[in-house]
Amino acid sequence: MNSLISFEKVSREYGSGDSKVFALRDISFDIRKGEFVVILGPSGAGKSTLLNILGGMDQASSGRVCFGDEIVSEYNDSQLTSYRAKRIGFVFQFYNLIPNLTAYENVSLTREINDTSLDPDMTLSDVGLEGRRDHFPAQMSGGEQQRVAIARALNKSPELLLCDEPTGALDSETGVHILSLLQRLSAEQGRTVIVVTHNSKLTQLAGRVIYLRDGQIEKDEINDHPIDAKEVRW
Ligand SMILES: Nc1ncnc2c1ncn2[C@@H]1O[C@H](COP(=O)(O)OP(=O)(O)OP(=O)(O)O)[C@@H](O)[C@H]1O
Ligand SMILES: [Mg+2]
Repeated sequence: MNSLISFEKVSREYGSGDSKVFALRDISFDIRKGEFVVILGPSGAGKSTLLNILGGMDQASSGRVCFGDEIVSEYNDSQLTSYRAKRIGFVFQFYNLIPNLTAYENVSLTREINDTSLDPDMTLSDVGLEGRRDHFPAQMSGGEQQRVAIARALNKSPELLLCDEPTGALDSETGVHILSLLQRLSAEQGRTVIVVTHNSKLTQLAGRVIYLRDGQIEKDEINDHPIDAKEVRW
């Protein structure tokens, strides 16, 4: 089996007794290297919980999470730290850039924690931002700031790129550009990209869509003809 990720009967519950909440219930799926997957579901469906477990920021209450040949659900804290630092790139809704650092400096940060980092200038040019190298976040548009955040995530050459509502704070046209960029990175560089969203329009772009509801997988669909981001009608 050549899957990059596998979830086997993964559950995550929070709290105890009467206040117990099941964020994920017995979820199983596999993702292959190079797939571009959209995870879609309404608020509270468990999307962020799933992404946090995948990214080593949270642990399953039961079940098994594998990454390649490794069992992430059995990692201790220091193994999780190294997994997060070296293997996973994160992109969040509100970019989370450091305001007093330039685009170049924000992207360079990954060098502090990872000795395999790429050249930040190359990564900035991959996301079309070579002309914004010395700008601070406040001097850039939302879409540009998100591209810096993507460059920062890519600069450690992660095996997996996780994006939690990456277009949530952007207007629809800018959102399309960001998705188009993520789609291109997956297609051209063979990167495995997982995008979580509650926007059903984005499903047209993905080769695969996992529908999540009430902590369970409602549907897991392959889309043989994902359309180009620029053709999405809003
Ligand atoms: N740390 C926590 N403690 C208690 N309950 C939590 C915690 N994190 C998530 N939950 C609960 O688990 C469920 C799933 O939450 P999650 O954040 O994964 O949903 P989501 O699909 O990302 O929603 P949204 O679209 O609003 O971001 C919700 O009912 C939420 O209240
Ligand atoms: Mg969420």
